[in-house]
Amino acid sequence: MERLKEIIAAHAGQEGPLLPILHDVQAEYGHVSEEAVRMIAAALNLSRAEVHGVVSFYHDFRDEPDGRAVLKLCRAEACQARGVEALAQGIAEHPRVKVETVYCLGLCSVGPNALAGAKVHARLDAAKLAALVDALAAEVAA
Ligand code: FES
Repeated sequence: MERLKEIIAAHAGQEGPLLPILHDVQAEYGHVSEEAVRMIAAALNLSRAEVHGVVSFYHDFRDEPDGRAVLKLCRAEACQARGVEALAQGIAEHPRVKVETVYCLGLCSVGPNALAGAKVHARLDAAKLAALVDALAAEVAA
């Protein structure tokens, strides 16, 4: 609760604070709980429905914990040209890693790329991607 208040306060006075607050809450807790929605709505003078609408609209936000690590695989044009679709096909469904699609991580010349947490992994090939998925899974299991 205190940490949530700190996150909200850190964005007080900013223009358009809702998305930055939601991103920080998602990063801190892995999801945006109903309690967080209520507190954010009250702090920003919004309805809970408005905040919940943003949470449910954006793919990055979850309203309940997922329990899996997230790997964001770039499937935009430059990474496609460098073979990301074949890599994506090769990723087996993993119980501990959720693979999501993003469109350009801004490092097109060194693709295919993926984002795990705040770290970009460049020049992926099948072996590097498999190792990355295994490392993420191990982090979740730890
Ligand atoms: S297209 Fe993948 S990083 Fe730009």
